[in-house]
Amino acid sequence: MTIPREIREIASDVYWVGVRDWERKFFDKLVPLPEGTSYNAYLIKGTEKTALVDTVNPGFEEDLEAKISQVMDPRGLDYLIMNHAEPDHANGLGHMLSLAEQAEILATNKGKEMALSLYDLQEEKIRTVEGGETLDLGDKTLEFIDAPWLHWPETMFTYFREEGILFPSDFFGAHVATPKLYADEFGEDYLKYAKDYFGEIMMPFRPRAARALDKLENYEINTIAPSHGVIHRDPEEIISAHRSWTNGEVKEKILIPYISMWGSTAEMVKTLRETIAAAGIDAVPFEVSSQNLNRLAGKLVDSAGIVFGTPTVLAGPHPQIIYVATLAKKLNPPAKYYGVVESHGWAGGAVRELSGLLEGTSGELLGSVEVKGSPQNDDMERVVELGERIVGEIKSGR
Ligand code: FEO
Repeated sequence: MTIPREIREIASDVYWVGVRDWERKFFDKLVPLPEGTSYNAYLIKGTEKTALVDTVNPGFEEDLEAKISQVMDPRGLDYLIMNHAEPDHANGLGHMLSLAEQAEILATNKGKEMALSLYDLQEEKIRTVEGGETLDLGDKTLEFIDAPWLHWPETMFTYFREEGILFPSDFFGAHVATPKLYADEFGEDYLKYAKDYFGEIMMPFRPRAARALDKLENYEINTIAPSHGVIHRDPEEIISAHRSWTNGEVKEKILIPYISMWGSTAEMVKTLRETIAAAGIDAVPFEVSSQNLNRLAGKLVDSAGIVFGTPTVLAGPHPQIIYVATLAKKLNPPAKYYGVVESHGWAGGAVRELSGLLEGTSGELLGSVEVKGSPQNDDMERVVELGERIVGEIKSGR
């Protein structure tokens, strides 16, 4: 018995042949995936030629083959378009080439270099393409759009002219495994997933993302079909959200990643939170040890301020706060204002180390509060002052 594999026709002779990975828990051993992810590949059948846009993660090659087989003999594929060289989309190229021996891989110059360094492919099987170059499939025309550093140096988009479908690989994506194919079927606030993903993957490359969005203004885009998450057949909302995130448009929001060993830091965070909330600004405590860090990335996307809460452990910040602060700095969030609240039993040290770690962010460390033992009234007054100072800066829009 042949086990059916789901495929979906998203436009005439254009098929989603991707797979869902319900079990995946981490991406790059860095990004938690509490709800899995998908690897979307797309088959485009023209009257003369056929193209596959991206492949799938290692371990899913035979699913991809089985899906393509429901539409055509995979041995007849003419082009394998590699928008991005990362293994979740490109590792399957070898498998597809073992079936379609005559097929050509199309990639950017940098993509070719990277594919040859990452995979066991023959150089002559990869043809490089330039931004603006087109590929004629007969009744369908594909155009390649140069879009580097989203989020690797070799990335490009593929645009199906006649239907206005953009295949942007990772850009506009989200990590979630869902039986729904389209954003408008998702039934929840899909943007939450897209925002977390943007924070994790694209935020460090905001200037590059801005350039790509500018470039896309020259194209009529009816559908966005990314390589993770769902497809957008009314793409205005996702484009507008990406424009806002890329521009670093922040909300009146202060994120408070914290950890507390014996409750003192938690008490200070509570006071800080109430101070901020009383001023009408959104205070978002994030207890680091109990929450998924992908949710932190999404909150970093539009927070105007960040205050870390940590005890001093072994003369420095709690190791989980060091990790979170390091990650936050590397993700390059647009926050302008930083603060630290710290508690210690006999000697501090966390603020000094954290201050050094935060050097080089796009924001300014506005102040810190260090407390020995359980926080007393005068300690809490200093916490209130710190909160009010950050609130004042946000409200003045400095
Ligand atoms: Fe989905 Fe950068 O790979």
